[in-house]
Amino acid sequence: MLTANEAFRKFRSNLELTQKEQDDASRRQKEIRGVMDDGFNISEDFLTGSYRRWTKTKPLKDVDIFCVLHNDEKPKYRDGKQPGVLLGAVEQTLAAKYGSSCVSRQRRAVTVEFSSGGDDERVVSFDVVPAFAKGDHYEIPDTATTSGWTNTNPKIHAEKATAANNAFGGEWKGMVRMAKSWNRANDKPVRPSFLLEVMALEILRPPFGGDFPYEFMSYFATAADRIDEVWPDPAGLGPPVNDTMTASDKAKAKQALINAHHKIREAIQLSRTGRSGDSLRAYRELFGQYFPLS
Ligand SMILES: Nc1ncnc2c1ncn2[C@@H]1O[C@H](COP(=O)(O)OP(=O)(O)O)[C@@H](O)[C@H]1O
Ligand SMILES: [Mg+2]
Repeated sequence: MLTANEAFRKFRSNLELTQKEQDDASRRQKEIRGVMDDGFNISEDFLTGSYRRWTKTKPLKDVDIFCVLHNDEKPKYRDGKQPGVLLGAVEQTLAAKYGSSCVSRQRRAVTVEFSSGGDDERVVSFDVVPAFAKGDHYEIPDTATTSGWTNTNPKIHAEKATAANNAFGGEWKGMVRMAKSWNRANDKPVRPSFLLEVMALEILRPPFGGDFPYEFMSYFATAADRIDEVWPDPAGLGPPVNDTMTASDKAKAKQALINAHHKIREAIQLSRTGRSGDSLRAYRELFGQYFPLS
C-alpha cells in the first residue's frame, strides 16, 4: 500500500508532460504558425502560459501560443481599433484551415480544438494569442477591459514560478499542477485556473514541510480565506487575475476550498486510524483520476 506522500509524488509525476505531449504541442505550434502566416505578418511565435511554465494540469487543454505580429500590422489591427477586429481576423484565418466549428473566440485568444483520436497524449486545444511587442513586454487584445488591450509579460510570470519552485524545494510547480487538477475535478470553482497559481505565489510559504497532505490542507484553508481579495497580475501589468469572478462565484469557490480543506483532514484521519486504502480513495475523490490508488 502506498503511503500518502508516495501517492502524492506519483500523482505529481502523473501530471508531468511526457515527451509525446511535448512533441505533439511543438508539431501543432509549427502547423498553426504556418496557418497564421497566411493571414498576418508574424515576427515570432512561442508556446507560453502554464504549458511553458510547467504548471499545467492534464489532460492538456488550451495550450497558449503567442503569435507576435509585426509592427506594420498595427494600422490595420491596433491603432484605434477594437480588440474584436484582430480576434475576428485571427478567427477567420484559423477557421479557413480548421473549420469554424473547431474555432472559437475567447476574451484574449482564439481557441482551436483538435480531435484526440482516442490518444490521451494528444493536446486537445490551443489558445492562439495575437500580440504586439511593447517595450520589454507584449500587448494583447482583451474584450473584457475598457481599453480593449492588456499588457502582459509571460517572462516575469515564468521567472516568478521558477523562483517559487526553487525556494519550495522543487515542489511548488507540482503542487500547482495538483491544485489545478482538484479544480478540474470539481467543475472549476476557481476561474481562471491561473488564479490558483497566482495565489500559490503568496500562500505556499517556503520551506516545503515535507508532507503533501499538510501542505494542501493549509493551502486550501488560506485560499478559502483569501479568495475574495483582489489578486493583481504578478507582473504588475494586466488587470487583476480574478476580475471576472462575481461575488457569487467567489462565495462558491470559497465553499469548495473549505470542503477541500475538510476532506484532506478526513483523509489524514483515515490513514492515522489504519484505513490507508480509504484515505487514498478520499484523495482521489478530491483530486480526480490522475491520483493513484496503487
Ligand atoms: N490578468 C492578467 N494580466 C496579465 N497577464 C495575464 C493575466 N492573466 C493571464 N495572463 C498571462 O496569460 C497567460 C495565459 O493565460 P491563461 O491561459 O488564462 O492562463 P494559464 O495558461 O496560466 O492557465 C498566463 O499564463 C499569464 O502569463
Ligand atoms: Mg492557458
